[in-house]
Parts: sequence; structure tokens; C-alpha cells
Amino acid sequence: MTSFIIEKTETPTDPIKRTELLANLAFGRIFTDHMAIIRYSADKGWHDAKITPRRPLSIDPASTVLHYGQEIFEGMKAYREKDGHVATFRPEANAARFAESARRMGMAELPEDLFVQAVDELVRVDQDWVPSGEGQSLYLRPFMISNEVFLGVKPANEYLFIVIACPVGAYFGSGCVSVWVSENYTRAAIGGTGEAKCGGNYAGSLIAQAEAKEKGCDQVLFLDARERRFVEEMGGMNVMFVRKDGKIVTPPLGGTILRGITRNSLIQLAADQGIEVLEEPIDIDELFSGAASGKYTEAFACGTAAVLSPIGKFVRPTGEAVFGDGKTPGPVSQQLKKTLTDVQGGRTNDVHGWIHRI
Ligand code: PLP
Ligand code: COI
Repeated sequence: MTSFIIEKTETPTDPIKRTELLANLAFGRIFTDHMAIIRYSADKGWHDAKITPRRPLSIDPASTVLHYGQEIFEGMKAYREKDGHVATFRPEANAARFAESARRMGMAELPEDLFVQAVDELVRVDQDWVPSGEGQSLYLRPFMISNEVFLGVKPANEYLFIVIACPVGAYFGSGCVSVWVSENYTRAAIGGTGEAKCGGNYAGSLIAQAEAKEKGCDQVLFLDARERRFVEEMGGMNVMFVRKDGKIVTPPLGGTILRGITRNSLIQLAADQGIEVLEEPIDIDELFSGAASGKYTEAFACGTAAVLSPIGKFVRPTGEAVFGDGKTPGPVSQQLKKTLTDVQGGRTNDVHGWIHRI
């Protein structure tokens, strides 16, 4: 265990004000009082682990992250369990993915146990910020930036790892989301950074997300970069489809999409209920005709922020693929969402050992 210096804020949020903030939660605009921070330099390794008041960073204008974008992040949540304790969900999976992202981006690798410890230390200090309402949680955002003062193009020698936290409610409103199929833009190509959770992937996706909004949709779906034919993933979540034969289909992990921890958990939970999940390429034309013929009965997005969000329709310039009445979540989506959120909220037996009590 690394020893963290704990520097608590002298001006914590007033508990009455905090209760007011927690009563009215959107996604990602309210932050807790503290942050975790650990520094890395090539000569000292990881050092100076601290919990400090949450405050702005001071970065040199020549800091490498501002020029070449060496940045990676994670998304995970702490939940108020049914028994009142606070727990995170599969944090070691986030730690492992963070290390993979670091390797892909040529960044220093943070030991996985130190990642988990940093998150635990922050959640412990800010535990009063973990909300208990339905669909609410404390969203945790571990991230790392390169921070060497140097304009040469090479992997940096200095890094900052930071964890911030924000209490959140649902990412989308209730009901079903609508999804625009991007034909103009792709997200990731083979050999690229699609499987890494790096800021650059999101920067490149924002114009497509803006196009989706312009078309009246909530989210964007990307197709493969080579043929623009196979479903990959959405801007900030993986995607799954339920077929009439009762099977679930989801695009395979081929290096261009994120290895979603929610995706992986749902595959396991579906299998536990005897539902087969096929990880197979999904042709977008076949998906549109299959929605019309009834071969595909439900679609949903899955991710830490999105949890499991039913999709009512996909829209592209030539038409729409509508699931059910386009507004009402289907039974398989609802059942799987309940199974997942019951595990996360400590309302059911944690048979897979996914709950990490803090
Ligand atoms: N795909 C993308 C592009 C994402 O941003 C996310 C969210 O983190 C996911 C998939 C789902 O990953 P996870 O379930 O690990 O949150
Ligand atoms: C997450 O689900 O954690 C993400 O990083 C996606 C983003 C939509 C917040």
C-alpha cells in the first residue's frame, strides 16, 4: 500500500448545500470537494500521492499534453449500497484497462493496485457525496496527462494521474434514446487507438455527435472505418441488440472499439440467465431490414455513464430502424438493466465478486 498524504479542504461544502445539490443531479457538472493526485517522473517513478482539495492545475504552456494530446481516462462509479455502505464496481477492471490505454499511448503505467487505492482514498474522503436516490451514484473520473515541458514529439517523461468525482443521475432522460448512424465520420481504424480510452478518440467524435444532435438524435453510432458497413459502437457506449430468437448480438472486440466493462458484465449476467450473447459483426443494412421484419426486437446502449439505455430508433439519411413503438423499453433490456443495477446497488447476491466495498 502506498501512503497518501491527506490534505482536507478548509472550506468543505456546507452539508445543507450538498443535500440541495444531490437532490437535483444531472451528469457531470457538480464536483466533490477533493481530488486524488499522483506524480510520475522518469527518475523518481510514481511519487507524491495525495488527496488534496479539488483545485485548478497549473500547467506550463509547453506541457506536452497541450500539444500532442497524451491523455487517457477511465469512467467508473461508487454506489450507495442497500445496507448504506459505499462500494465501487469492478475497479480492478478499470485499472487494467487504464494500464492498457497507457501502453497504447506510450505513457507511464500506473500500477493497478495504486489506481484502485487512489480511487478508494478519494471516495473515502468524499463519501458523503455518494447519493442514494434511484439511478444515482458518484461518477469517478481517473485520468492521466503527460506534463513534460518540451515541444519535441516523443513520449513524455513526466505525468500526472488525477481522480475527480461527481455525483450523477441518469445520463439520458427516461424512455428510449434515438441514435444517428454516422455516414460521414468514423471513430477508429484498425491499428489506431480505438481500443484505448484516450481523449483524442472523443475529440474526433464530437463533430459526429453534434451532427446527431442536429438530426434530432441523442447519440451517434459509428460504423467500421474500412467498409462503413459494420456496427462498431456509439460515441460513449457499446451497443447490443436482442433478436426474435432470444439471443443477444453485439459487435466483437477487434481493436477498434472500447472493451466496455458494462458490456462484459452484461454478457456474463445474460449467460447466467441462459441468454446466449453472440459477439458477431452486424451489417447495418441487415440491422435496418431486420428491425422492419421483426428479426431484431430490441436495441440498447451500455456503459458506465449510460448504464443500460434502451434505444428506440436508429436514423440514417435513407430511413429509420424502429424497435417496438420506438418509445417503450423492451422486456429483455428492462430485465438485464434490473439485474445489473441490483448487483451494483448491493440488492442481490454478488456471485461474481464484482462489488468492491470501501
Ligand atoms: N465505448 C465508449 C466509446 C465509451 O466511452 C464507453 C464508456 O466508458 C463505453 C464504450 C463503455 O465502457 P464501460 O462499460 O467500461 O463504461
Ligand atoms: C463512461 O461511461 O464512463 C464514459 O466515459 C462515457 C462518457 C459518455 C461519459
